[in-house]
Amino acid sequence: MARPPFRCTKGTLRESALAGSASQEDIFSAMAAAGTGHENWSSRSAFILAAVGSAVGLGNMWRFPAEAGENGGGAFVLFYIFCVLLIGLPVLLSEVLIGRHGQANAPESVRKVARDSNAPEGWSVLASMGVFAAFLILSFYCVVGGWVLYYIGVFAGDLVQTGLTGGAFEGRAAGDVEGLLPGLFGNGGLMVGLNLGFLVLTMFFVARGVSSGIEWVAVYLMPLFFVLFLGITIYGAFTGNFGEALAYLFTFDFSKLTGEVMLAAVGQAFFSLSLGVAGMMTYGAYANRDTNLGETSGIIAGADTAVALLAGLAIFPIVFAAGLASNAGPGLMFQSLPLAFQAMPFGSLIGLAFFVMVFFAALTSSVSLLEAPTAWVFEKFKLVRPVAVMIVGAGAAVLGILSSLSFNDLAELYPLGFIPLFAETNFFDTLDGVTAKLFMPIGAILTCIFVGWVADAKLIDDENGLDGALHQTWRVLVRYVCPIALTVILLAGLFPETAEQVFAVFSGGETPVEVVE
Ligand code: PHE
Repeated sequence: MARPPFRCTKGTLRESALAGSASQEDIFSAMAAAGTGHENWSSRSAFILAAVGSAVGLGNMWRFPAEAGENGGGAFVLFYIFCVLLIGLPVLLSEVLIGRHGQANAPESVRKVARDSNAPEGWSVLASMGVFAAFLILSFYCVVGGWVLYYIGVFAGDLVQTGLTGGAFEGRAAGDVEGLLPGLFGNGGLMVGLNLGFLVLTMFFVARGVSSGIEWVAVYLMPLFFVLFLGITIYGAFTGNFGEALAYLFTFDFSKLTGEVMLAAVGQAFFSLSLGVAGMMTYGAYANRDTNLGETSGIIAGADTAVALLAGLAIFPIVFAAGLASNAGPGLMFQSLPLAFQAMPFGSLIGLAFFVMVFFAALTSSVSLLEAPTAWVFEKFKLVRPVAVMIVGAGAAVLGILSSLSFNDLAELYPLGFIPLFAETNFFDTLDGVTAKLFMPIGAILTCIFVGWVADAKLIDDENGLDGALHQTWRVLVRYVCPIALTVILLAGLFPETAEQVFAVFSGGETPVEVVE
């Protein structure tokens, strides 16, 4: 039976009132929130599933193997894990903590923490930037989501045509299979249609609200995702070249750890953990008072990293067994893998299962990207949720169409071409670059300074669920390690050439300046 959309609004009030520590002010703010439809997760596990759903997505299945492959395998992987532990995890906890204290959309939550700490409310700008970045990411994330829909269609069609047991795309040349993606890119109308299809699906679930929409997707699709994922990893291990993949991903060659690799790793950690864009703040706002945020953040980061590593162990054995290159980059999932499925028994079935699984993961992430701006729009302008979804969705559709067309009709359009960093960068790549290189690190630096230095220490301690040495470590990481490391990363991302030279000096290597003989 369908649940009424705002079922939990009373729950929010009741929970605040029952939490013992709830002040009258808490109850009033819960009431205010309830008036605009603020809901809570129905349980701690629902929160964990939704947050893991946000984190696990195209970032793990598509971006992680591509980045690892392009950046030398093992060196990247080890540094990635290091980034998740020392930077990603502390920032993740800081974000959910702000949300949980604020119990509102991200900018409003920061404002509440600032108010309760006697700090300027202007700090909310860090979350406003995040909300805007989430909106930008949503627009191009749905473009890639559209490609996933396309491959589901292709493999489903193939399964019907060629039957269960043989390889996929029987009798077709390898060039044909690899050509599927460029073929799609060349078709502007189809790209736009698929993009909007994925966006509309996302909008449908977010419009249904936190418990009947977002939570529903997470609770049903994430377990299905894990089952399919495990199945494909086991399939890869038995039919593919598992040993080679294992050695490739986990042999750490220090000489391959260049500045560029480190930057790629930290950027990937941020994208994968959904950080710096207010998404985790928004989800934290629906968490109950009795959820231990330190512990929950550990589970989210652990699950996300495990899925990324396992995705590598699912994809590379299949790619290696087919004798394909590991450094195919973004083409790895969409071009190399279908080619590998061609040579495998049950290829079309496994291909279909694979892309359905990626679709589930992508949808639970895009839902979180839409929720961050939606929550802000409907609380700020006192709208009903579906109207806010329509407004944000319409904006994302416009940007998405421009991104979809940047692979074909608008390939020559360089929106920020006057900035050297974005010279000759099309619309899609510009949005990706602006969010990953600017918004995410700046948002995270400001979050760390706010939580580590500005916000009231007692307030933060009451929320974070950590004690003893763990608490001390977290504080040191948030106050010093993260902001410093992130500033270096931000600058290195903005000035790649200078960064490469500085890095070369520090590592004792040669500067990449060409010597003219
Ligand atoms: N973490 C998601 C992924 O790995 C992407 C995402 C980024 C989602 C930022 C929300 C916010 O695919």
